[in-house]
Amino acid sequence: MHSTWTEVVSIIAHDLKTPISSVKGYIELMQVAGELNERQQQFSERALHSLQQMEQLVARLLELSWIDADRPLQRDDCHLAELVARSAELVAELARRRDVTIHLEIEPEVSVVPAESRRIEQVILNLMSNAIKYNRQGGDVWVSVKNKPDGIEVSVRDTGIGIAPEDQPHIFERFYRASVHSGEEIEGTGLGLSIVKAVVEKHHGEVSVESVVGEGTTFRFWLPRVAE
Ligand SMILES: Nc1ncnc2c1ncn2[C@@H]1O[C@H](COP(=O)(O)OP(=O)(O)OP(=O)(O)O)[C@@H](O)[C@H]1O
Ligand SMILES: [Mg+2]
Repeated sequence: MHSTWTEVVSIIAHDLKTPISSVKGYIELMQVAGELNERQQQFSERALHSLQQMEQLVARLLELSWIDADRPLQRDDCHLAELVARSAELVAELARRRDVTIHLEIEPEVSVVPAESRRIEQVILNLMSNAIKYNRQGGDVWVSVKNKPDGIEVSVRDTGIGIAPEDQPHIFERFYRASVHSGEEIEGTGLGLSIVKAVVEKHHGEVSVESVVGEGTTFRFWLPRVAE
């Protein structure tokens, strides 16, 4: 049987899910079983944290292999306003930990676009989690959804560290991470924005960025109202 690399990656990534969640389950059982001393508790927390990073990487690999397999989109009625509201709930805990406030600015009567909602939700989640991760403690994030003549635009604006002009042309490349994160090491695989761009362009939409170092960043994407 002949397999392409995307099939191999997708099979391995799927197969990794089971052992990862098994190890995670056993560590959690060990914690609730009790009698761990302080050091053991600390080690098990670190192990869980690493497993969470592995899960994130596996999820990213599955998204990448889906992009490279170039399968046709499975379009549905994509309710961008609903996806934004749901994504805001999913990132609420991350925002709380960084004391970041999320503001939703959703125009009334935003219509639907023909798109694969599951993928568009990943796009919104990627942009919102970046806006929180690369924000300052106590910062803000504004997410807006607006009707445009030919489609719908979503923008995600933050009060974060910003992106240097020399980094801006590269941030949508796979594995690219800007070097300066204000001394703080922020975790990531450098794949999120490459997935954002690929998914939006597969829908014949557009994505753009504007940023001022030390002030903040705005990402916008637009999806057409009519499927090509
Ligand atoms: N809102 C933002 N503000 C400042 N810098 C950003 C922002 N979003 C992205 N960046 C920069 O662009 C880089 C690429 O972003 P991308 O989302 O692709 O990767 P990541 O966040 O590092 O990892 P992950 O794959 O987990 O998303 C980041 O490492 C960061 O340097
Ligand atoms: Mg990211």
